Amino acid sequence: MAACSLLATGAGAVTLMQTPAAAAAIACSVDYQTSDWGSGFTTTVNVKNTGTTAIENWTLTYAYSGNQKLSSGWNGTWSQSGSTVTVKGADWNRSIAGGATVSPGAQFSYSGTNTAPTSFAVNGVTCNGGTTPTDPPTDPPTDPPTDPPTDPPAGDKVDNPFVGAKMYVNPEWSAKAAAEPGGSRIANTSTSVWLDRIAAIEGVNGGMGLRDHLDEALEQSGGEPLAINIVVYDLPGRDCSALASNGELGPEELPRYKSEFIDPIAAAVSDPKYAGLRITTVIEIDSLPNLITNAGSRPTATPQCDVMKANGNYVKGVGYALAKLGPIPNVYNYIDAGHHGWLGWDDNFGPSADLFAQAAQAEGSKLEYVHGFITNTANYGILKESYYTIDDAVNGTSVRQSKWIDWNRYVDELSYAQAFRQRLVQAGFASNIGMLIDTSRNGWGGTARPTGPGPQTSVDTYVNGGKLDRRIHLGNWCNQAGAGLGERPKAAPEAGIDAYLWVKPPGESDGSSSEIPNDEGKGFDRMCDPTYTGNVRNGNNMSGALGGAPVSGHWFSAQFQELMKNAHPAL
Ligand code: GLC
Repeated sequence: MAACSLLATGAGAVTLMQTPAAAAAIACSVDYQTSDWGSGFTTTVNVKNTGTTAIENWTLTYAYSGNQKLSSGWNGTWSQSGSTVTVKGADWNRSIAGGATVSPGAQFSYSGTNTAPTSFAVNGVTCNGGTTPTDPPTDPPTDPPTDPPTDPPAGDKVDNPFVGAKMYVNPEWSAKAAAEPGGSRIANTSTSVWLDRIAAIEGVNGGMGLRDHLDEALEQSGGEPLAINIVVYDLPGRDCSALASNGELGPEELPRYKSEFIDPIAAAVSDPKYAGLRITTVIEIDSLPNLITNAGSRPTATPQCDVMKANGNYVKGVGYALAKLGPIPNVYNYIDAGHHGWLGWDDNFGPSADLFAQAAQAEGSKLEYVHGFITNTANYGILKESYYTIDDAVNGTSVRQSKWIDWNRYVDELSYAQAFRQRLVQAGFASNIGMLIDTSRNGWGGTARPTGPGPQTSVDTYVNGGKLDRRIHLGNWCNQAGAGLGERPKAAPEAGIDAYLWVKPPGESDGSSSEIPNDEGKGFDRMCDPTYTGNVRNGNNMSGALGGAPVSGHWFSAQFQELMKNAHPAL
């Protein structure tokens, strides 16, 4: 029916309506793209239907001349027999409309040379753009394909879950914000739900648990699409490079993490009652990046991160969380990808992407269980610098040599997130992954905000005078003085970015400014003490933290007020 009405607009309609589609000849072209790093590569095979009638149940076949070996594939079901590669359409893309293109992708390993295949066939018919195969194309199988449907049911997922969706307002945060003088201006903004301990699943001290939030989300949705973002944050040996957010599980307590934390979360979110919600997750902030930058021979290494690297429980925990949550049709996993002031250096950038790919295939997880990544969670990195770029130089000296940038490749979160997205695709993640950026506290507005570039006396005067991120050092992370609320949550704000979100709820502390006994496993990290003169991770600078802060996660009214005062865009 749809085909008839669609085709009523063109001359081709008549032909199609009179000729059964099955009898129509297949016309196709293939554009084969790779990204190769010497021992492996990812490929995107763009298969275009150059005819006017739809190609149903497509099967793409082609062959390699070397020892290329399939590791994993997406946007279709990939298999390999000898040198022959077969890709069948997934449930959601098995029909290619006239003029349309499908883009299955895969990762391969190889040694020797990686010669591109020259001939491609769809349902046994050679596509234009390739040369004639030496052997006649194999006939399509006589039997209908008996393969199980592609897993996960990725076809039920939308490309960007935030587009066209309302965003969940957490009533608990909203009430705290509304109780602050002036807080009603932002109290109905969407913020994330943090599952930061096992008890949070049922609700801490009579507060809302996960199902309470999901029920409330159903209410707020009113039957329309709604996205609710949930931070999954309770790894064994949590926060190994700092103390303020140490958690309840010891370094070896992976079994408890699985059975008491991830399993109950997966059980709740997979309840059919919630099938209409778009449930996005932020998986384990500050975990995997620590294994790259704060372990092993790095001068910044800590004994705790060495333990977590050696026992593999961060990698396994993340893999397990993805494996349990990824197959749920309405759950969208976003892995934490640090921020530009952490992974933006060459030594950290690529290795982190590759580690993320490793974790995404641990404990039964698959790369396709990852919908994207998030940067800047609970951090203060500026979204966009306005008065200098990484390519600037002063008197012939690159700004990369300034003390602030210190050879980093990126000066802000947007450029970092967009570039990291591409490196992640190269590491094997799907070509349509999207990035999130936590913009809750990276506004840096107010009276101290520069209004033009710094003086070109030296790279330091130029950068320090013009930078919008007013931190003393890029490595400072606790309750930063001078910070303001950033961009309000927004879907698809820039290319490659699924959304800006307020993940860290403004007003919740990053850590106490002095030691405060607590039963949450949280330590006292001197990066939250305004009198601290720093350590190797912040270049031995002052911490830049506000005084008078409570334990991490607890309400910090003075910070909330300062964030509103320095909001950019202003309130
Ligand atoms: C910190 C705290 C955690 C809290 C979160 C959000 O990570 O350790 O308990 O939920 O911030 O404020």
